[in-house]
Amino acid sequence: MAETEVSAETPDWSRERPRRFWDPSRRLLLSLRRYQACGDGLLGRLGRKRWALSHRFWSAVTSVELPLNTRIGGGLLLPHATGIVVHPATVLGPNCLLMQNVTLGNNYGRPGTPRLGGHVDVGPGAVILGPVEIGDHALIGANAVVLKDVPPRAVVAGAPARVIRFRDPEEDAPETAA
Ligand SMILES: CC(C)(COP(=O)(O)OP(=O)(O)OC[C@H]1O[C@@H](n2cnc3c(N)ncnc32)[C@H](O)[C@@H]1OP(=O)(O)O)[C@@H](O)C(=O)NCCC(=O)NCCS
Repeated sequence: MAETEVSAETPDWSRERPRRFWDPSRRLLLSLRRYQACGDGLLGRLGRKRWALSHRFWSAVTSVELPLNTRIGGGLLLPHATGIVVHPATVLGPNCLLMQNVTLGNNYGRPGTPRLGGHVDVGPGAVILGPVEIGDHALIGANAVVLKDVPPRAVVAGAPARVIRFRDPEEDAPETAA
């Protein structure tokens, strides 16, 4: 593995740390993380209320639907967080990246939602539907419509999405440093 490659296994929590107060996508993620970390008992219940309120605020600011119970590996990046919709049963591995207007969900009520591996970058406007598995280090092109499994490191594009090449380990999404 190249030294510069983003890990598909180890979450890089620094990607999620807010850089300033007005950092809506990271504040949204922080609310979700804090909500999920609340324990049982009175304090836990109060904490959940507090972080659910904060989550609601940042969801309204960003127009991102990232439900509070979604299973998301650490290190998620939302560089232009707007118009993103994620079904709560979707699973995201560590260090994924979702560009603007991405949809991850089921296909009109048919059972099954996507499972993204680690370090999967999803381009603007991409839609991933149904019980599909997206392999580690995959790159989903802008406006792709993904209806089938994507192998690790594959770069897919089009509607329906097809593999156009495989990703170089040194290649990274330009926004990863955002
Ligand atoms: C998917 C992507 C990474 C492919 O880039 P690439 O490997 O350089 O691919 P190329 O541009 O060489 O294109 C290879 C082929 O795939 C097609 N293709 C590339 N991206 C496509 C896309 N998003 N949808 C449909 N077809 C696409 C090209 O037309 C080309 O087809 P051809 O061989 O018939 O001419 C890139 O197009 C993409 O979608 N990047 C997203 C960038 C992004 O998120 N930017 C942030 C904006 S805020």
